[in-house]
Amino acid sequence: MRVPQGPQEKTYQNLALRVGVVGLGYVGLPLVVSFAQAGAEVIALDTDAGKVEALRQGESYIEDVPSDTLRALRDRIRPTTRYAQLAHADAVILCVPTPLTANREPDLGALVAAASALGDVLQAGQLIVLESTTYPGTTRERLVPILEESGLKAGRDFHVAFSPERIDPGRTDHTMRTTPKVVGGLTEVSGARAEELYGHICDRVIRVVSPEIAEMTKLLENIFRSVNIALVNEMSILCDRMGIDIWEVIDAASTKPYGFMRFDPGPGMGGHCLPVDPFYLTWKAREYDLATEFIELAGKVNALMPDHCVSRIERALNDLRKPVNGTKILLLGMSYKAGVGDVRESPAIKIAEALQSLQADLSYHDPYVPEVPELGLRSVELEPALAAAEFVVIVTAHPGIDHAAIAEQVPAVLDFRGVLRTSAVQPAAFG
Ligand SMILES: NC(=O)c1ccc[n+]([C@@H]2O[C@H](COP(=O)([O-])OP(=O)(O)OC[C@H]3O[C@@H](n4cnc5c(N)ncnc54)[C@H](O)[C@@H]3O)[C@@H](O)[C@H]2O)c1
Repeated sequence: MRVPQGPQEKTYQNLALRVGVVGLGYVGLPLVVSFAQAGAEVIALDTDAGKVEALRQGESYIEDVPSDTLRALRDRIRPTTRYAQLAHADAVILCVPTPLTANREPDLGALVAAASALGDVLQAGQLIVLESTTYPGTTRERLVPILEESGLKAGRDFHVAFSPERIDPGRTDHTMRTTPKVVGGLTEVSGARAEELYGHICDRVIRVVSPEIAEMTKLLENIFRSVNIALVNEMSILCDRMGIDIWEVIDAASTKPYGFMRFDPGPGMGGHCLPVDPFYLTWKAREYDLATEFIELAGKVNALMPDHCVSRIERALNDLRKPVNGTKILLLGMSYKAGVGDVRESPAIKIAEALQSLQADLSYHDPYVPEVPELGLRSVELEPALAAAEFVVIVTAHPGIDHAAIAEQVPAVLDFRGVLRTSAVQPAAFG
């Protein structure tokens, strides 16, 4: 999601507001920029000294945040690794990672560490907002007790709220300002404080009555996507077997003006959110003696997709009377989605690993991902790689790459993103 740029940066007034942002990743850095553009002074904290130094130099490491934008806001952003700086903030927003452990259980290590460090410098009157995606109850049951070790009481001496981040890296049609923001405070006053805070950077703030509702809202949004993607992925496997073009089917179904929402199949799910967040709820649901079967099934189907892709590659090569072993295969796109360089949980890596174990002569091109150490590969130059490739696979279709022209140029191409199709059906406007 692109942060607003351009003339606004220079015309904003100073705002009597000091905001701390903890965790300067895909979620935190755009927030820093939005608050600075709104005129606030922002204390931008990360334990990664490299990111803090980059920020000091005005160098962005997130695609959606241009370095020029950071530099224009330099006098409003105070990058730091020191929690003590947060004692001067009116509000502190936590955007630290919430991954899964090796046993696929919630790993709140970063959140606990950040909360403990923040608790040491917590001041009466401050508002603390958690944005990291997590299971319902985290704010009240985990964050608040740690902060209260300061001796201050939540809801009385300081305020706490949860507000889910809705950032969609690479998206340009919705911005931080135009995307409605949900907030749920621990108390009425805490909710009102959070609403006021986000009112500086978002046109519409929706106040819900508790942090738990706000926490669950985020999970519903992500699980909705995960389940629908799994459904369409499963349909794509069946369509493949039945010789039916799934894209034609989706284009046709998308012409229905109500009751259908378009989701596209792909090589599997990646990123920090969809493969991870639903399992926070699965874990919590066990406490309530419920097996969340939709979530598990969706995870299972989506996890099958890289294998399905590999078998389609094998079949396509077989039709060309070629083995995988020794064939020069070029993968286009290594990140998990178009327009970003994030390779966390990327299905492209799983496909590449499988092809390497089948001894393909594998290379990849991805302008956003210069290297993938676990594959021992670096992104190759596109033109010479296309000239050498015997088989090309479109795994992630980045903007700025002319896939149709590539398809004309190479001996054979397999498209897992539907970018080469020419549909007989006009896609629906909302598609
Ligand atoms: N990336 C997305 O698209 C997205 C969208 C919505 C919600 N979220 C949620 O937002 C949260 C953050 O995600 P992200 O993608 O920005 O992660 P990220 O890994 O890009 O950034 C997190 C940052 O937190 C820092 N950090 C870790 N421990 C810290 C600590 N104790 N103190 C200070 N900084 C610390 C890391 O160094 C890193 O820079 C997660 O809960 C995620 O589920 C992410």
